[in-house]
Formats: sequence, C-alpha cells, structure tokens
Amino acid sequence: MRVAVGLPVTVKHRIGIDKTESYTFVRDFVGTVAEAGCEVFVVHARNAWLKGISPKENRELPPLRYELVRQLKREFPALTIVLNGGVKTNDQIAEQLDDVDGVMLGREPYYHPWLMTDWDARFFGESPVERDRDEIEAQMVAYMQRVVAGGEPWSHVSRHMLGLRNGLPGARRWRQVWSDHRLKQVDPAEVSRLARESAEAFA
Ligand SMILES: Cc1cc2nc3c(=O)[nH]c(=O)nc-3n(C[C@H](O)[C@H](O)[C@H](O)COP(=O)(O)O)c2cc1C
Repeated sequence: MRVAVGLPVTVKHRIGIDKTESYTFVRDFVGTVAEAGCEVFVVHARNAWLKGISPKENRELPPLRYELVRQLKREFPALTIVLNGGVKTNDQIAEQLDDVDGVMLGREPYYHPWLMTDWDARFFGESPVERDRDEIEAQMVAYMQRVVAGGEPWSHVSRHMLGLRNGLPGARRWRQVWSDHRLKQVDPAEVSRLARESAEAFA
C-alpha cells in the first residue's frame, strides 16, 4: 500500500483475536506492520471475538485493556499510537492523552455530538468559541439544501444529527420531527422550524 499510494497509510486494529490475550501478539503485529512503513496505529483496546457474537456485541463484550495500548506507545515511541474504545468524556480523553498520541471516539460523540464543542479549545489550543445548537442546525439545513439540490434526500444528512439536542428538554420531540418520513418532500428549513417549535412546546 505504501508503494501504491502517496497518502499516509494508517492501520486500525484490535489488541487480539478470540482468547489470544498476550501483549506479545499485538506487539509483534504492530512491529511487523511498522516495518512495512506504517507509522499510525489506531488501537481499539479490546480483543475481537470472531465466533458467536454480533459486531455490536463485539464493541461491548470483550473487556477493554487500555494498558496494552500504553505499553505499545512505550515500546514504539516513534509511532503515532491512538487509543480507541469505550471513551465517553472529555476528562477521560485528557487522561489518556498523558500516555498516548491521540484518542479516537466512535459512539459517544455520534449520540452526543455536543461533547465535541470544546475539543478545539481544550485539545488543539484554539480560542474558545461559544456555540449554539440553533446555529449549528441552521448550518446543517444549509448543507441539506445543497444535498437536495444535488438530487439526494436531506434525510441522508439529518439522520446523523439526531443527537444534537440530546439531554435537553424537548429533544425527543425534535428528533421525532426530523425522523418523520411524511415530511421527506418538505424543505429542510421548514422541517427545522417545525422541529424546534415542537421541542419548545414540550420543553
Ligand atoms: C455503527 C458502527 C459502525 C462501525 N463501523 C466500523 C468500521 O467500518 N470500521 C472500523 O474500523 N470500525 C467501525 N466501528 C467501530 C468504531 O470505529 C470504534 O472502534 C468502536 O465503536 C469503539 O469505539 P467507541 O467505544 O468510542 O464507540 C463502527 C462502530 C459503530 C457503532
């Protein structure tokens, strides 16, 4: 892959397969792949159980073992080691960053995207920015309108922002309006207005 493309090659992997739980297994894997020229490893800190459980269960059941990821960083300090799996809060991110180069989050920011609002300031040294959910929704609506103009339904976009108001009063009503398939021919600006109106009524 290194020869075939000019882009950096990165690898995302787990720490073991089935009941293979020794550190040497993942260490040898990373060492071998690094020798081929890969410098970035995103490590989901649990084994993959290949039989008997679903992909969803495979993201919950095998126990998390962050220590192995930290050990990889100590053993390969020149590589970029990114920790992934089960991280839910910004304090947990900060704690992990003491020992590894990066942290990848999957589910938590997908379901609670507001978590991401202070990342630029907290982790990348940028000036703090006050953010507003209505403003973000308006930007998403503008994007949906471009998507609709290109012939795709706006729901392809909206389905990924349904967590925007999670934790706030009226969030469920707001989500229900955005998910209402009877509105699929309606301009997303109007859907947004209806959704916010509905959230306010039930807040
Ligand atoms: C719906 C869904 C789809 C996923 N698809 C992929 C994928 O295609 N490739 C991949 O490497 N990981 C995939 N993952 C796993 C995530 O990248 C991540 O490793 C996993 O969710 C653990 O991180 P988390 O605990 O922060 O969610 C997926 C996760 C979810 C929830």
